[in-house]
Amino acid sequence: MSWPTDTELNAIKNAVAQMSGRDAGEVRVVVAPYRICPLGAHIDHQGGTVSAMTINKGILLGFVPSGDPKVVLRSAQFEGEVHFRVDETQHPIHLANKNGGISTSPLREKGTWGTYAKGALYALQSKGNNLQQGIIGYISGSDGLDSSGLSSSAAVGVAYLLAFESANELAVSPTENIEYDRLIENGYLGLRNGILDQSAILLSSYGCLTCMDCKTKEHKLVHAPELERPFKILLAFSGLRQALTTNPGYNRRVAECQEAAKVLLAASGNSELEPTLCNVELAVYEAHKHELDPHLARRAEHYFSENSRVTRGLEVWASGNLEEFGKLISASGLSSIENYECGAEPLIQLYNILIRAPGVYGARFSGAGFRGCCLAFVDAEKAEAAASYVKNEYRKLQPELMNQLNHENTVLICEAGHSARVL
Ligand code: GLA
Repeated sequence: MSWPTDTELNAIKNAVAQMSGRDAGEVRVVVAPYRICPLGAHIDHQGGTVSAMTINKGILLGFVPSGDPKVVLRSAQFEGEVHFRVDETQHPIHLANKNGGISTSPLREKGTWGTYAKGALYALQSKGNNLQQGIIGYISGSDGLDSSGLSSSAAVGVAYLLAFESANELAVSPTENIEYDRLIENGYLGLRNGILDQSAILLSSYGCLTCMDCKTKEHKLVHAPELERPFKILLAFSGLRQALTTNPGYNRRVAECQEAAKVLLAASGNSELEPTLCNVELAVYEAHKHELDPHLARRAEHYFSENSRVTRGLEVWASGNLEEFGKLISASGLSSIENYECGAEPLIQLYNILIRAPGVYGARFSGAGFRGCCLAFVDAEKAEAAASYVKNEYRKLQPELMNQLNHENTVLICEAGHSARVL
């Protein structure tokens, strides 16, 4: 695999060796890739079925067990050292702001970048694990890719979980780690997101589409046949790093979906069921959608149409039909804009540019859509041409945002990756 390179791994190991006084050969490294979700956006928190894969970029966390309960962490991106002890009990801090958006990114906020490490400890403790072994660790994210909608937060959370588990010799399955990471985000930070991100990071396998039923928690890996024309993943960055405060927040959309579910369940005499859209039969939705307020009807329409795009997408992926797969991705992107109404303007502009770019099969914005990047599947041979087209067109519309981007990172050409692991 092209990531991480030996140079990247050695840099992390040497940094930990320097911090701890140990030999670089003793340093273990957690590799936690970022994820993309081509189909299945915004439906994980409603128990929908999602598709995902990882890319060949992400978080590296080098560490050694500290030999006592102390945790000492440094970051390649941020200043300062984080100190705490694994035998101190952690309590939720609920960072989600009033708007319902999460107010920080795990790697960005100076002074508090250790939050996710404490969140991982909180998750492990709340399931009865009493850790005794701390870590001395050094964390680094692929340059310029935090706050990009590639789920750096879940990658960071998973990285700390795997490091604490490895240091304390805990045998934990990916399914249990999906739940632990959910506890970091929902329990510790107060964000009401679903399990898409960490499922992708923990379960993905190179060459496959990971499919997760967020209601039953069952997953499968769908292989693509040998493709006639290989594809690449294009990531086009908007330059928006902070969620816009005028944007409706993540938690507000979750609440609207639940509101829609409540109305539909009541209309079909099923009020006793939990108000999530996965508890509403498609036929019930069809029969009663006219009873929903228009904005709630749009949220429900996104949920039901996105679920069917995922079902169809898995079939066309398995048959190697990238053209059809791409059309579904773009339809998903449009539904996020029109029905889920969550894309910030620069991301919508990027979406419109990408779907016109040479060789692009389909595009949508990545993650919640409040900031960060858009993703596209592109014919490998045309990836460079598509990248230049997108750069030129986006510069015309958003010169200032474009100037804020690191030149090398305006449009990245990536490949699919593996799941998170400890080396
Ligand atoms: C964020 C959340 C996920 C998911 C996506 C949108 O990444 O963390 O749970 O809802 O947005 O698909």
